[in-house]
Amino acid sequence: MVFAMTTIGLVGAGHIGSQVARLAVAHGYDVVISNSRGPETLGDLVKELGPKARAATPVEAARAGDIVVVTIPLKNYRSVPVEPLAGKIVIDTNNYYPQRDGHIPELDNESTTTAELLQAWLPTSKVVKAFNHIYAAELTTHGQPAGTPNRRALVIAGNDAEAKAVVTKLLDAFGFDTVDAGPLKEGWRIQRDTPGYGPRRNAEELKKDLAAAKRYRDMR
Ligand SMILES: NC(=O)c1ccc[n+]([C@@H]2O[C@H](COP(=O)([O-])OP(=O)(O)OC[C@H]3O[C@@H](n4cnc5c(N)ncnc54)[C@H](OP(=O)(O)O)[C@@H]3O)[C@@H](O)[C@H]2O)c1
Repeated sequence: MVFAMTTIGLVGAGHIGSQVARLAVAHGYDVVISNSRGPETLGDLVKELGPKARAATPVEAARAGDIVVVTIPLKNYRSVPVEPLAGKIVIDTNNYYPQRDGHIPELDNESTTTAELLQAWLPTSKVVKAFNHIYAAELTTHGQPAGTPNRRALVIAGNDAEAKAVVTKLLDAFGFDTVDAGPLKEGWRIQRDTPGYGPRRNAEELKKDLAAAKRYRDMR
């Protein structure tokens, strides 16, 4: 598989977005970051990230990215630009917190999952769920070189095998093993309140956590 990936676009530059940008720049990628308030509000972060970073609008960041990370409060997913992301790999970090996002009936009744919502919004993009179960601060402190015993692993899910292979390589470069939970519809196995959500886990532990995960309806 040949995939020349040099620029990572970010829609969202908060806790997770800024950390993914730091990781990306540290590993030689260019980044284009964006938020809801406009590029002029991202000056400090761009300054910290240095010459490989620039700030833009979400549309520009989506257009510029070879891979684009969507990392915003889930409730705003319908504002993610669709056309500039057509055909691209889109990494979805988002989680559902009703107290922040309001109630989304199809998530409350568990007829879909967070990343499937984004995939439905971006029908021709290749959505891969990733980075949703690690605290933002740990992204830049828990990474280790490939082959390190007991290396931390992160879950991915997605419907496109090639896109998942690209994201697996990216995560490896960033310092993490990967556990593939399967298609997007299996992403619930790493949602809020599941065993793997939050704690540091190696790949074997994380696989067990995914297998042990329960739907919210079975937790009540
Ligand atoms: N924090 C964590 O440790 C963590 C871990 C894993 C996953 N997550 C999930 O990842 C997502 C992001 O979390 P976070 O903690 O990084 O959130 P955050 O710190 O609140 O940052 C959210 C970012 O999204 C931007 N944004 C909001 N609405 C937008 C829109 N419509 N278009 C473009 N940008 C928009 C915000 O920009 P403005 O500030 O300009 O509004 C801000 O830069 C959430 O779904 C969260 O549940 C978080």
